[in-house]
Amino acid sequence: MGILEVQGVNKAFGGLKALSDVNLNVEENTIHAIIGPNGAGKSTLLNCFIGKLIPDTGSVVFNGTSLLGIKPHEINQLGVSRVFQTPEIFSDLSVFENVMIPCFAKRDGAFKLNALSRVLGQRDVREKAEQMLVDVNMADKRDMIASSLSRGDKRRLEMAMCLAQDPKLLLLDEPTAGMARADTNNTIDLLHEIKSKRDITMAIIEHDMHVVFSLAQKISVLAQGTVIVEDMPENIKGHPKVQEAYLGTPAEG
Ligand SMILES: Nc1ncnc2c1ncn2[C@@H]1O[C@H](COP(=O)(O)OP(=O)(O)O)[C@@H](O)[C@H]1O
Ligand SMILES: [Mg+2]
Repeated sequence: MGILEVQGVNKAFGGLKALSDVNLNVEENTIHAIIGPNGAGKSTLLNCFIGKLIPDTGSVVFNGTSLLGIKPHEINQLGVSRVFQTPEIFSDLSVFENVMIPCFAKRDGAFKLNALSRVLGQRDVREKAEQMLVDVNMADKRDMIASSLSRGDKRRLEMAMCLAQDPKLLLLDEPTAGMARADTNNTIDLLHEIKSKRDITMAIIEHDMHVVFSLAQKISVLAQGTVIVEDMPENIKGHPKVQEAYLGTPAEG
């Protein structure tokens, strides 16, 4: 039994079959990568996990609860958090203020930015925010303004904000897209650190094979809307079906 189970998912846009009979099983407390060439259906599949799209047929079950037709704001309450390609942070606020916001929202269910100064005085929320910064190794940067952080540190801050919601499953959509190698490696280290400190499952959509092979314990390869191989990283490298999906069938003769 996986924490995220996808069975027989089909999704068409007009005449175009973006997903056909997708089956996928993400096991609890693992890092599972979903890879595949452009247009394979990765984003479409992710959107079926977070309520942005509803499959035509099939099921998506997280921790025993169907995710079909879920509202995007309900997904956090179920224990699913999502990290976007570009970090979603409040640029004009300090690192600490940024982390206070989800800590407060987690406790009280909602947050208004004009309540920030009041919230900053609340000890339990402050302590949680401090712990989140320790967890991502940013305690020394708590008073920096978010816009002045490096790309890798912005990603760290965003992760601290995600973790404040105590997610069981983290969905990462190309978390290193557009990053320089140093920031990419910083993000890989960060994900390893987080994984070592808490019980969390990660499903990561990623183009960069360096990232995939540095992190994933299991890899599902999507091609033309179907999972063609699901296996351990060592069996994915050099797999003829995977090479064919990326490079095409070798020409005859
Ligand atoms: N909203 C949409 N309307 C029509 N076609 C779409 C839509 N979203 C995706 N597609 C098509 O579905 C296929 C899979 O796309 P996508 O899931 O974005 O692939 P990937 O993320 O793997 O690059 C592509 O052929 C794409 O053009
Ligand atoms: Mg995509």
